[in-house]
Amino acid sequence: ELGPYSHFMQKEIHEQPKALSDTIEAILDDGFSAALFGANAANVLPTLSGVKILACGTSYYAGLTAKYWIESIAGVVCDVEIASEYRYRDAFADPQHLVVTISQSGETLDTMEALKYAKSLGHRHALSICNVRESAIPRASDLVFYTRAGAEIGVASTKAFTTQLVSLFALAVTLGKVRGRVTAEQEAQYLAELRHLPGSVQHALNLEPQITAWSAQFAAKNDALFLGRGLHYPIALEGALKLKEISYIHAEAYPAGELKHGPLALVDENMPVVVIAPNDVLLEKVKSNMQEVRARGGELFVFADADSHFSDSDGVHVIRTPRHVGVLSPIVHSIPVQLLAYHVALTRGTDVDKPRNLAKSVTVE
Ligand code: M6R
Repeated sequence: ELGPYSHFMQKEIHEQPKALSDTIEAILDDGFSAALFGANAANVLPTLSGVKILACGTSYYAGLTAKYWIESIAGVVCDVEIASEYRYRDAFADPQHLVVTISQSGETLDTMEALKYAKSLGHRHALSICNVRESAIPRASDLVFYTRAGAEIGVASTKAFTTQLVSLFALAVTLGKVRGRVTAEQEAQYLAELRHLPGSVQHALNLEPQITAWSAQFAAKNDALFLGRGLHYPIALEGALKLKEISYIHAEAYPAGELKHGPLALVDENMPVVVIAPNDVLLEKVKSNMQEVRARGGELFVFADADSHFSDSDGVHVIRTPRHVGVLSPIVHSIPVQLLAYHVALTRGTDVDKPRNLAKSVTVE
């Protein structure tokens, strides 16, 4: 069942080009059409004035990434909330805001209860982005998009995350289209970018030997810091969660611009700092944040792309994906942080597929 792989997590990381191809197949065939999200979506999507995303854990980080896409591409307000927080507060509900739940399993109790609560507050429509057909959350939603990642067995979510991301990107473009913000020319451009995505993810997977070479340095540490900005800040959060979940190393993520507001005090030679730094509009800002880390003796482990123009120097280690992939860059940059967590855990000898204290599906509070 594992084939050439040692763990389900490793297998599932490597299945991502296929999982993504399967998930985007219908989009590549028919374009960004409302029908992707269910029979009634063509009536619902044009009536919406905002999006409210509810999820837990890794699925919540997919939601955080989606906020950037939805606000910039669709031009609608998007707010993202941890389901277990939302369900117990007196929340404001705009009936014209679409509730979007994100869940690999479709059975996470907090996400299910948050959905019920949102409906009780008056939200009219709910979209479920889910990997398990006919599970509880999609059954309770009027709109559904199924990710086609296939069964995910490792407790650490990997292929479910990147397929959630691509589904949310499709939602952003589709909403932009029905609102008249995405032109036919832009749609063609987004489709071309999607078409290249599985190949770009495969290129990122080919970096595994370089990433493995970093793992011993992390395995010997007690802590790690992950930094990113903009679209890549949620990927820093996901990288930190993956590392703590399976290697038991304490890891935190910050938007790099927050360093000076506190976390810089933690930085010294014992604090490896992972930076997600592809060539986007914030790259120059990220570079100056990296200098702040170097000036305090922190060692930098940088995931860049071919256009970022970094090279290795004293205390700065760089791994580059072969090219910049524009707005889909967070999907490609998920791969190196998954591989890093996997190889550090392997070096530390933990139970990668079944980390202590955790369950694959959290159906209790
Ligand atoms: O099945 P769900 O997507 O609703 O699960 C949510 C979280 O429990 C899940 O993403 C968890 O954070 C993963 N173990 C992270 O790898």
